[in-house]
Amino acid sequence: MKIAVVGLGYVGLTTAACLASRGFKVTGIDIDRHKVETINEGKTPFKEPGLDKLLKRSRLRCSTDYAEAGDADFVFISVGTPAGPGGEIDLSYVASAAHSLGEVLANSKKPCTVVVRSTVVPGTTRGLVKNELEKSSGKKVGEDLFLCVNPEFLREGNAVHDTFNPDRIVIGDDWGRGGKNLLRLYRRFYRRRKPATILTSTVNAEMIKYASNAFLAARISLINEIANICNHIPGADITVVSKAVGLDKRIGPYFLNAGLGYGGSCFPKDVKALIKYAENLGERPQVLEAVDRVNMGQPLKAVELAEKLLGNLDGKTAAILGLAFKPNTDDIREAVSLKIIKTLQEKGCNIKAYDPAAMENAKKILGDSVIYASSAEDCLRGSDFCIVVTEWGEFRRLGPDVFRKLMRNPVVIDGRRIYDPVKFREKLKFAAVGFGS
Ligand code: UDX
Repeated sequence: MKIAVVGLGYVGLTTAACLASRGFKVTGIDIDRHKVETINEGKTPFKEPGLDKLLKRSRLRCSTDYAEAGDADFVFISVGTPAGPGGEIDLSYVASAAHSLGEVLANSKKPCTVVVRSTVVPGTTRGLVKNELEKSSGKKVGEDLFLCVNPEFLREGNAVHDTFNPDRIVIGDDWGRGGKNLLRLYRRFYRRRKPATILTSTVNAEMIKYASNAFLAARISLINEIANICNHIPGADITVVSKAVGLDKRIGPYFLNAGLGYGGSCFPKDVKALIKYAENLGERPQVLEAVDRVNMGQPLKAVELAEKLLGNLDGKTAAILGLAFKPNTDDIREAVSLKIIKTLQEKGCNIKAYDPAAMENAKKILGDSVIYASSAEDCLRGSDFCIVVTEWGEFRRLGPDVFRKLMRNPVVIDGRRIYDPVKFREKLKFAAVGFGS
């Protein structure tokens, strides 16, 4: 059985490496030559725990040439679906991948199953993808070429674990064979540990992905809104509130961590894309609009708290702990750190920043407008206030005395609720999202 994966971002590469690790013959295809060469040298082009080990163990080979997919039994399309200028989904990479794939499948003797793994708005698989494939291959989906959509729910930083241990597998197929073929492949992949499976229409599968991300994003914005209210109530603490709320079985404990908002390559873009998609259908998605609006404002709560403790921030040096959009990744796409730094700079602050993994990526965007520290301690040294933006483990270990010793003016804003407010308040000026004063 031969498998090709088109698009080697964290979803595509993780999918390819996990399949290859189970003995399938897998070829990765990407138009980025540098990325392909890096992977073929056995290295990962981005930080993703466990992936380098899998790559070393597996026989995954990568290429820039779509012809490599010509004799595949399965081809996964996992190219990016970024936001267009107005927030709507940009499907141009999906269209181009489907077109190029169709060209090489034109001469294939095998009935290939094409699997759309990219996040696409409902109607994309049975519309644009089917049309592009049929146009360039001259074949007919459902007869001599099979097609289905199989959204992923992988968290960056946990993508390998999530691939081997998904909560569920969702497959959408309108033609009858592609989805069943993919199910057979997954049966071999998961062996006895078969996850719950939903086999449904393509539009349902596509909507399930958006609905899942919308729910998770909504939980975060709602708990952040409650936290913002708690900020005004002396004695209130969102960490206690959310723990108790999460013990209600109907609500559950996950995705209730209040903080500075969600970032990353999925939630911000998918919520916006779903809003645009709904608007185009003549439906105004009011909850989604509010989810997005709360999230846009949430990073600035850290700046508000700093101003509350320090007054005018002009000329002050801010120590920013954490640049990645979340811990255990070097990804800074839509990271709240970028928004906070920009706002502080507009207010006349000098910025010192430190992140255990994302410094190189941050430099590409922030250039020399920021001083890059070599450690958390180096970042704190001589600064006037500190904002904890990403909850890396190594920041959790810093006690209040470290801040007091190193900072010129020990003022700490805990944007991710990693410190005990009582202990910190005893020793320095301290504020935290969702902690009333
Ligand atoms: C997410 C989804 O979890 C995944 O299923 C989907 O396929 C892609 O998008 P990811 O973006 O990798 O994955 O990260 P995730 O761990 O879900 O966190 C997203 C953002 O939400 C981060 O910025 C994180 O800091 C924030 N978050 C998460 C909170 O602010 N509070 C929480 O309780 C949980």
